[in-house]
Amino acid sequence: MVSYKELGLVNTREMFAKAIKGGYAIPAFNFNNMEQLQAIIKASAETKSPVILQVSKGARNYANQTLLRYMAQGAVEYAKELGWEKPQICLHLDHGDSFELCKSCVDFGFSSVMIDASSLPYEENIALTKKVVDYAHQYDVTVEAELGVLAGVEDEVSSAVSHYTKPEEVVDFATRTGCDSLAISIGTSHGAYKFTPEQCTRDPKTGKLVPPPLAFDVLDAIMEQLPGFPIVLHGSSSVPQEYVDMINQYGGKLPDAVGIPEEQLRKAAKSAVCKINIDSDSRLAFTAAVRKVFAEKPGEFDPRKYCGPARDLMEELYKHKIINVLGSDGKA
Ligand code: 13P
Repeated sequence: MVSYKELGLVNTREMFAKAIKGGYAIPAFNFNNMEQLQAIIKASAETKSPVILQVSKGARNYANQTLLRYMAQGAVEYAKELGWEKPQICLHLDHGDSFELCKSCVDFGFSSVMIDASSLPYEENIALTKKVVDYAHQYDVTVEAELGVLAGVEDEVSSAVSHYTKPEEVVDFATRTGCDSLAISIGTSHGAYKFTPEQCTRDPKTGKLVPPPLAFDVLDAIMEQLPGFPIVLHGSSSVPQEYVDMINQYGGKLPDAVGIPEEQLRKAAKSAVCKINIDSDSRLAFTAAVRKVFAEKPGEFDPRKYCGPARDLMEELYKHKIINVLGSDGKA
């Protein structure tokens, strides 16, 4: 058993309480490799933003859970080296799908876990979430749960259709499970294709897709039921068109990729939404930068020469999200 406290990590409790009061959201960035982690930590340290490092089940399989945990521990030391005296870094399991996986993360130094039983019938979602909460809380590890279903594909999580969270269920769910935060479905979705062209309109000038707005009325109704309770938005990449264009310009093929407009995320961040999950945008930045190097310098074969620019572009992206979208800069 390793306690996250020994690793210098923090859970989400205080982060979320401050974020709700302050009208901003904490960035939850997924990571799978060293370059992503370096970029996240540098952006967070330089902007003094609390940050949640997210590890999905897919990331654990890809990068090895032992290595990822030591990387997170190393991230705390790296942050201090960068001059961030008291780094506020949470290590979080993204989309845990079983009690065993969540338990193993709690036992292994994670400071927060998500149990995503949202695809199960309501009572089963409650029972599994409560089991994880009862275990995790013994070690002061915070637990995120989910109600409602997001569309899209992400690692092992996928659904063709979304079902908005039902506001009339949230009080019963939060009370009976004891979860610390709740991921809801109000129209965001995982991946770089969040909406089909049929769900969007087209900007007549640019020909680009304009996605439908998020269901802020559902969010308002949830907040009315659960005042001051931490709400989480998954699937919140905005799929920046400059990265999509760069990828397509340098030989990629991402037609009609579309995300959540940043002004809608900014609006959400000012409410009880205190954690916003972003993964795809960083994948796009990485890929765009690597493709550019490959196209312009076909003789290049030193990974540092293409992973380095990818890291720089991701860092720029993370800083932009922290400062201009979530408003979490200067809060740690
Ligand atoms: P995106 O695919 O929109 O980046 O969402 C990531 C996410 O929600 C991770 O849980």
